Amino acid sequence: MCGIVGYIGREGQEDARDVLVGGLENLEYRGYDSAGLALSNGDLTVVKREGEVTELVSALEENNPGAAPVGIGHTRWSTHGEPSDANAHPHTDCSDDVAVVHNGIIENYEQLKAELRADGHQFESETDTEVVPHLIEAALKRGADRESAFRSAVDRLEGSYAIAAVFEDADDVFAARQDSPLVIGVDEGGYYLASDVPAFIDHTDQVLYLEDGEFARLTPETVGISDADGRPIEKSLATVEWDAEDAGKSGYDHYMLKEIHEQPRALRKCLRGRVDGIERTVDLDLELDDVGGVHLVACGTSYHAALYGAQTLRSQGIPAQTFVASEYTRSSLAGQSPLVIGVTQSGETADTLGALRTARAAGARTLAVTNTVGSTAARECDQALYVRAGPEIGVAATKTFASQQIALHAFALWLGEGMVDSDQIDALRTLPDHVQSVLDDSNARNVAREYVDASAFFFIGRGYNHPVALEGALKLKEISYEHAEGFAAGELKHGPLALMEDDAPVIAVVTGDDERARKTVSNVKEVQARGAPVIAVTDGRSDVEQYANHVLTVPETEPVLAAVLANIQLQLFAYWIAAELGRPIDKPRHLAKSVTVE
Ligand code: F6R
Repeated sequence: MCGIVGYIGREGQEDARDVLVGGLENLEYRGYDSAGLALSNGDLTVVKREGEVTELVSALEENNPGAAPVGIGHTRWSTHGEPSDANAHPHTDCSDDVAVVHNGIIENYEQLKAELRADGHQFESETDTEVVPHLIEAALKRGADRESAFRSAVDRLEGSYAIAAVFEDADDVFAARQDSPLVIGVDEGGYYLASDVPAFIDHTDQVLYLEDGEFARLTPETVGISDADGRPIEKSLATVEWDAEDAGKSGYDHYMLKEIHEQPRALRKCLRGRVDGIERTVDLDLELDDVGGVHLVACGTSYHAALYGAQTLRSQGIPAQTFVASEYTRSSLAGQSPLVIGVTQSGETADTLGALRTARAAGARTLAVTNTVGSTAARECDQALYVRAGPEIGVAATKTFASQQIALHAFALWLGEGMVDSDQIDALRTLPDHVQSVLDDSNARNVAREYVDASAFFFIGRGYNHPVALEGALKLKEISYEHAEGFAAGELKHGPLALMEDDAPVIAVVTGDDERARKTVSNVKEVQARGAPVIAVTDGRSDVEQYANHVLTVPETEPVLAAVLANIQLQLFAYWIAAELGRPIDKPRHLAKSVTVE
């Protein structure tokens, strides 16, 4: 997804170019297809290239724009127009006096472009963004100063945007946001602007979050934030609780592997202060009365966490339904007034924000379950429950999924309101150690090596293990590019059995020894009878091992938590298949960390 960086240094401070290139590198994890910079040092120099930031750096070396105190940069993920140098940001006006970067979608750009063309403006790209510098240029020609020209251009836009602009011969940066995040970083050396904190976390942890409808002007001495009518807004600095070390790979080959291994710590953080082992209670800092029912809305991996969360809520007697966020409409709420929970690690997923807004418009109470403090979901919902997984740089969600599972499980226990069964409390408290033992003892790497040439992978599970099977398949397909599908184990015989082949393993998640486990073992036998190899993920309580070619074991625990442990094995399996295939694991193709378009 697109990323924005901006910098303005105080006198004698760092060259904007180095800060911006560093910021763009820090944003690479979001996924992008081109990158560019605009530097202002009396002249305005724009350099942009299709491809990686390294291509941009080579181009900068060739162009040598000289030191500049101010600039903006962008990584683009195409929405309008193919990836190309011309479509890369920044975009400029006809006379190259103003440069603009933009995240989001300008819905009325065709109409604006037609209007501007009729007035003689020339366009060089197929993007929606390019209308913005031309609108600014038009306003400047009408006699507006830079700030009013920027504001009047933004006023004309319909859609979603985080926008930053710099001008020739001026040392300030203008910014505005609507439905797309922007944050300002502050240190003694200068001011930073970014769509995501990791862009400047190497420099400062002191931030100001911009809200929808707000404008900012950054100068070497100050940051001025104002509302749509130009009234100044006072904001206090917030401290981001990540440091650069948190955002590094710490010796692992990939962020994804590092983040898989961070799960014991992430889960400890998620549970800290929330589970009381003596009183046997779960305490969350939320205020919610009379919750008659719950709707969970989410996408992708978060949707799988939501499916799991709905089961834990129902196990506490709370009616709960899960919806793919993009399918959530007013009619989903018909006759009900549920609490609507948006499950979203980034807090910026457009589909999930859309579903939450639908719910709010219908008068429903909303709760964000998110990893990102200050995200749009957290700010727009009535309340937020943070999953506390820490920064997740790998595009494929891993530790945020486990933390979402546990935050939702804790939420269900909390909403259930009673004293919690001591076995449940003990199991929760020992979960991080159990996760650690899965990580220490896993043979997923060896098993993965056996199946690197498989033609497809099928994942099955029941109950809490059903969302885990779906997630196992999603994780594998997104990072390995291999065909993988997850099913409710009982559904196999309703069609997918036709796909069984001797080179397409079935990964069966079977924990516990109840009726569900026994039925899944029967499904495993059906698969085996049709020649498919079986990999069982099991706590050893059923006899599934007898029918499996390979086994990935997890410690015995409560059924609801066994599913969390099983997922760790599936994450490792997916990782090692992708590693064997030499895939770019942290930045898989066609996938972005936060998907801010619908
Ligand atoms: C999968 C993945 C995506 C996200 C989905 C929702 O690894 O990362 O499927 O889970 O785009 O993102 P969030 O949780 O940020 O709303």
